[in-house]
Amino acid sequence: MAIRIIVKVPDPILTKKCRPVDTFDARLWTLLDDMKDTVKAANGAGLAAPQVAVLKRVCVVDTEDGYFELVNPVITSSSGEQSGMEGCLSVPKKYGTVVRPEKLTVEAQDRFGEKQVYNVKGFTARAFCHEIDHLDGVVYTSKAQEFFDSDED
Ligand code: CO
Repeated sequence: MAIRIIVKVPDPILTKKCRPVDTFDARLWTLLDDMKDTVKAANGAGLAAPQVAVLKRVCVVDTEDGYFELVNPVITSSSGEQSGMEGCLSVPKKYGTVVRPEKLTVEAQDRFGEKQVYNVKGFTARAFCHEIDHLDGVVYTSKAQEFFDSDED
């Protein structure tokens, strides 16, 4: 396990669409293990593979609801609306207000390729949306309505 370097804006890799994962092998597990080390070390709520320069549909979310590993995630339904502050490890010292659904159902595969279904809400739903956006080359700054500076990374 290792901490990987986090790509920062305006690196063009953050705007690229990721490829689906079709091989659930040791290489994927190393990526997931390294992403866990990296998001924990950075004290983030999530991390997507393109943020560590890997264009695969893989992301992790780490909130008070748990630690989630999502491979090929798809939002299958959403409801409600929430407006709140969002930051990104690829956009240091900035926060922004983003409107997201309040509740989501997400289907994803786990590290073994098994299908899992997640029903999440509140901040965890926000984190899922943020990370899944990264897999389509979307950084939250393109959706934020206002920005705030922060001393934190
Ligand atoms: Co982000």
